[in-house]
Amino acid sequence: MIELQKVSKYYGQKAAVVDLSFKIEEGEIFGLIGTSGCGKTTTLKMINRLVTPSSGHILINGEDINSQPSETLRRHIGYVIQNVGLFPHYTVQQNIATVPRLLQWDDQRISERTQQLLRMVGLEPETFARRAPDELSGGQQQRVGLARALAADPPIILMDEPFGALDPITKQQVRGEVKQLLKNIQKTIVLVTHDVGEAFDMCDRLCLLDQGKVQQVGTPRELLFNPQNDFVDSFFKSNRLQLEMMSITTGDILEILQSSADTPRSFSEGFEGNGPRAAANDSFFSVFQDAKPEAHSYVIYDKEDQPVASVTSEQLLSGFYRVRHKLKEKQG
Ligand SMILES: Nc1ncnc2c1ncn2[C@@H]1O[C@H](COP(=O)(O)OP(=O)(O)O)[C@@H](O)[C@H]1O
Ligand SMILES: [Mg+2]
Repeated sequence: MIELQKVSKYYGQKAAVVDLSFKIEEGEIFGLIGTSGCGKTTTLKMINRLVTPSSGHILINGEDINSQPSETLRRHIGYVIQNVGLFPHYTVQQNIATVPRLLQWDDQRISERTQQLLRMVGLEPETFARRAPDELSGGQQQRVGLARALAADPPIILMDEPFGALDPITKQQVRGEVKQLLKNIQKTIVLVTHDVGEAFDMCDRLCLLDQGKVQQVGTPRELLFNPQNDFVDSFFKSNRLQLEMMSITTGDILEILQSSADTPRSFSEGFEGNGPRAAANDSFFSVFQDAKPEAHSYVIYDKEDQPVASVTSEQLLSGFYRVRHKLKEKQG
């Protein structure tokens, strides 16, 4: 869907990014991560032609973005930035209508779309449509920023540190909602963040950059357990345990438990499991984090939402260590 071919950007003698090549698949959430100044924003801006590469090509659906009129590009790509970037003298409604206006939609269509989007991001139009951005909290502004990016229903959304300006609690909440929303609307997302926890929480695949160069592209789990070089390995060091918990699912744990001696009591029909429920594709981290300390056993549900097993917290924990051990053994 989006392909970068040997893309470089120089400012004078200084390289911002060098020889970037990777593909972003349709429908995935692709994270660009790395320390400040490594070239994340530059890369994102080249995808929507806010910055012109010094060399190389960027293709969207096989076509060079330079051969597409900028209006087509605008319709295809929504952009959400750090500190929201709402126009201060526009109302919420006018902000959301920016791209539809450029595309010369009629007033009726714009008004309907704006209301629909506001509801989608959890803001009641009657209350919020006519407010100015400075009459909104940070979290509300971020939602409006997202609604604006979604306005013309673009298949691609670029997000640059979208939660960067929020306090930790609001951030957690807005990020959870956005994640849910993105799941339901099936877009191709490129998410820039310097927060690895956020990247592991949100992204299907990641590209880790350092000094403008790709260090590794892969799933969070691949980067964590099969790092291609020392930089990748050391990049995750300080959050390692949490990231491992985020990248291992209860399904992985169930599988390893079932293949070993102390098999958990399997779910049998009519069994009313007590204790918190966990989906097989939930991360071990999210299950443990959300559970009450006194939770003793968990009921695990498969993709069809059928309960498959009941496991105790001790089994879950020891299973986690076994999966982790297995993944580490395969390393190298
Ligand atoms: N307009 C510019 N002029 C000169 N240097 C720039 C410009 N934009 C970015 N850079 C430099 O390019 C490098 C990458 O910047 P950027 O892509 O913003 O990094 P990140 O988003 O990962 O923090 C940095 O060294 C930055 O100083
Ligand atoms: Mg940046």
